[in-house]
Amino acid sequence: MNAPYRELDLARTGPGTPGGRFMRRFWMPVLRAEDLAKGEARPIRVMSEDFAVYRGHGGAAQVIDYRCPHRGALMHLGWVEDDDIRCVYHGWKFDCTGQCIEQPAEEAGFARKVRMRSYPTREFMGLVFAYFGEGGPPPFPPYPMPLAEGLIENQAPPLVPCNYLQCFENSMDEVHVAFVHRIGGSHQGIYDLPEIAAEETPWGMIRYGRRGNEERISLHYMPNCTRVIVPPMAGLDGAGGWRELYLAFTPVDDENNMWFITNLVGVTGEAVAPYQAARRKYLERQKAAGSSLDLAQAVMDGRVRFADIDHPDRVRVQDFAVQAGQGRIADRSNERLGRSDTAIILWRKILEREFRALENGTPPKTWVPAPAEVGPTLGF
Ligand code: FES
Ligand SMILES: [Fe+2]
Repeated sequence: MNAPYRELDLARTGPGTPGGRFMRRFWMPVLRAEDLAKGEARPIRVMSEDFAVYRGHGGAAQVIDYRCPHRGALMHLGWVEDDDIRCVYHGWKFDCTGQCIEQPAEEAGFARKVRMRSYPTREFMGLVFAYFGEGGPPPFPPYPMPLAEGLIENQAPPLVPCNYLQCFENSMDEVHVAFVHRIGGSHQGIYDLPEIAAEETPWGMIRYGRRGNEERISLHYMPNCTRVIVPPMAGLDGAGGWRELYLAFTPVDDENNMWFITNLVGVTGEAVAPYQAARRKYLERQKAAGSSLDLAQAVMDGRVRFADIDHPDRVRVQDFAVQAGQGRIADRSNERLGRSDTAIILWRKILEREFRALENGTPPKTWVPAPAEVGPTLGF
């Protein structure tokens, strides 16, 4: 008999788990594009599996197996040659499909029998995406660009020490803003408590935060991306104004997730240069202030009071502390969900339904990319 969904492990994404099978049906952001130069290779960990990623001299990023099929050396130690990669240990060379094409110390004919896995890889809005599932990948891009004009900016992705789902759920939780982000005054304009409504769509979920006659709309793209309009960044002294933010939570493993934060900053023309100058100052202040994750840990440990958080990324520290503070994998069996958790409840029901379909061998829903004209609104 099927267990009730509260007991289902919604949060795990390792290979073979229900969540792992589900999440591997989608494109997953794995890296900020600017963090991988041509000719560079590095390791990545996604959904409890290790891989190597490199950027060929033709410019495309490639995701391949973590270890060489010869005797297991780490592939990211190797050399990128054109769009191929050569293992550092005995010089076997692989093309971007994973096919071995050279073995300097072996007999001719062996190479063609050796292949490693490679994974479809694409770029969009400054992020590298990979597909780790069976068969062909779904349509790309996985979500639409903003229609408004402005600068697309990707923040350096933090590695947050907890499961991805509690961070994703926080992004569906508009009520937390009135409490977590009250200190510091970063969210003026949305401190009134909203009434939350949510509905499933062909591409994920749409969420409404109603305050009187006003309605703030936020989008949740399957399987892990939230698109929302957020207040001007306090660390930037408000430069750039309200911004459209895409926040994708990629599971690194069950106890860590990477936040890919892509902003559309609504500045154009002559406003760009002063904005960039303000951003450079912010980045300097951010560097000088030290790790926001370390500060969040100090808050969780009781060494710094929540009320005393002082950092150019105060909002982020506040968020880390409440979300990672729920535990590395939040225990959902003892929660007491209320009306304000409507969107979270719906999302979990969708996940449960889809996991069950995969488990029972019935067809899961075919998710489609959202139409470009459906975007988030500020609501006032
Ligand atoms: S381990 Fe890679 S070539 Fe030998
Ligand atoms: Fe928050």
